[in-house]
Amino acid sequence: MPKQSVVSKLGTWRGIHRSLVVLGTLSLFISVATFSKVYSFRSSILVANTFCNQEHSQSQSMTQIQVGEALDKVIKMIHKEIQEFENTPTTDSLIKRHTFLADILGLIESVKESMPDIQLNPPINQTHHLLGSKQLSYKPENHFLIEEIRKYVKMKPNRLGKQNFMGANGTFTSIGHACFAMRKDLEEYMDYDIGDICNDDWKLAQKLMVHGCDPLPRRRCFSRAPQLYDKPFPIEESLWKLPNNRNVRWSQYRCKNFTCLAANSTRKGFFKCADCFNLSNHEMPRWVKLENPNEDSADFLAHQVLDLKSGEIRIGLDFSVGTGTFAARMREFNVTIVTATINFGAPFSEMIALRGLVPLYLTINQRLPFFDNTLDLIHTTRFLDGWIDFVLLDFVLYDWDRVLRPGGLLWIDSFFCLKDDLDDYLESFKMLRYKKHKWVVVPKLDRDDREVFFSAVLEKPPRPFR
Ligand SMILES: *[C@@H]1O[C@H](CO)[C@@H](O)[C@H](O)[C@H]1NC(C)=O
Ligand SMILES: *[C@@H]1O[C@H](CO)[C@@H](O)[C@H](O)[C@H]1NC(C)=O
Ligand SMILES: *[C@@H]1O[C@H](CO)[C@@H](O)[C@H](O)[C@H]1NC(C)=O
Ligand SMILES: *[C@@H]1O[C@H](CO)[C@@H](O)[C@H](O)[C@H]1NC(C)=O
Ligand SMILES: *[C@@H]1O[C@H](CO)[C@@H](O)[C@H](O)[C@H]1NC(C)=O
Ligand SMILES: *[C@@H]1O[C@H](CO)[C@@H](O)[C@H](O)[C@H]1NC(C)=O
Repeated sequence: MPKQSVVSKLGTWRGIHRSLVVLGTLSLFISVATFSKVYSFRSSILVANTFCNQEHSQSQSMTQIQVGEALDKVIKMIHKEIQEFENTPTTDSLIKRHTFLADILGLIESVKESMPDIQLNPPINQTHHLLGSKQLSYKPENHFLIEEIRKYVKMKPNRLGKQNFMGANGTFTSIGHACFAMRKDLEEYMDYDIGDICNDDWKLAQKLMVHGCDPLPRRRCFSRAPQLYDKPFPIEESLWKLPNNRNVRWSQYRCKNFTCLAANSTRKGFFKCADCFNLSNHEMPRWVKLENPNEDSADFLAHQVLDLKSGEIRIGLDFSVGTGTFAARMREFNVTIVTATINFGAPFSEMIALRGLVPLYLTINQRLPFFDNTLDLIHTTRFLDGWIDFVLLDFVLYDWDRVLRPGGLLWIDSFFCLKDDLDDYLESFKMLRYKKHKWVVVPKLDRDDREVFFSAVLEKPPRPFR
């Protein structure tokens, strides 16, 4: 904590002339200006490194030396200023000004500290891109001023200087690259006392994740829990019963209990799957009973799909917006499903867990945490829709293909989009070249006929190694 140590050193100042205050303020402005310049400059170096763009390396390294010199000068000036304050009378406003000065000094020194490995490099030979980027060894921790983030992202070398059993020289704790762009939010998230109770900030964490700061750093504080937690209902009851309200922290939601979430009249703060918490009426018949058996429907029944590969479907993933009802249904068929979800306007994760199912807290930004060719089934509904970018959809589908085993099933359940976009989306699904077990397009009746539903059950073909 540079702030505290400098401040305590300053504890004994007394006596100061008015002119000195003016001088101090002036140098303060200079240092702030220099600091902000340095900061934006430093970010541009980091960006240049990341993209191995060394075009301006020569002029950059010249500027680096100038910046280094400027920093030294500013640090000396502030030190001098602080020393002179030791002979000044102590008033509240002066102490405040000095604390500010000491803060600035701490910040500048920590910027300076992060510079030598950049400064000491000779101008980079433009023909050696790889060598150049290696020499400039990119250190993510240099981007952050909060000590706890710096500690987290630093590579942790193994003790005794040996490789660990995984064959690595150290442990590389990683954070999502968008964390760098969301520095302020991340620093707020990581601003806590080690060993204390964390702030009530899961929503900030989710915002960071949704915007690409994913994975988030771990923290060394204790997460908040519901004030009075009751044990969950036994499994025979829990699957189809609204959980105890006490087992959820409600502070960040519009609804404050499950009854409110299940009611058909309340405003809940989210629109996808507004009926999902109504287990008895809305959720109970899903995938076992068709709403209107005589109409064209984009819904398939669970047994119809499972019978395609009788006895072969055992484990899978549901990537949907929902409360885990698909997993609950599949459990009755002895199929184990994990449900990917975020807490989008309601405590979806807690609801799924309290029902006795496995919630996977995961955003669409992330590669799935499963190994290649492992799952029997991927089911998706209400998540991938006409809002999704085509390139993103491609990446998502290839990732799903990766984790599905040969002979595994992809169940696209009521994907909806504008009629005009349908062909483009269907091309994406056809790109997989899966065997089509089921494939239907049904007009969506509510929005003046401009939207359609698409459902399919597709089988991943074997791809013999060549
Ligand atoms: C860069 O490297 C190439 C190849 O080794 C060499 O021919 C060239 O003289 C170098 N240029 C500079 C500016 O050092
Ligand atoms: C790991 O350490 C060994 C021995 O110090 C070294 O030879 C090797 O290059 C290191 N590997 C990496 C990936 O840094
Ligand atoms: C549930 O919350 C709503 C408001 O969100 C409130 O009006 C209602 O009384 C609550 N019901 C119970 C059983 O706590
Ligand atoms: C579920 O929906 C039905 C029909 O809209 C309604 O009658 C019932 O009260 C709802 N259940 C809950 C728990 O609110
Ligand atoms: C909830 O109300 C809407 C209309 O307000 C209706 O279309 C929908 O079917 C209702 N949901 C249930 C579960 O009854
Ligand atoms: C699920 O497994 C249990 C126990 O092995 C068995 O009794 C039951 O018939 C199975 N259910 C289905 C639908 O296969």
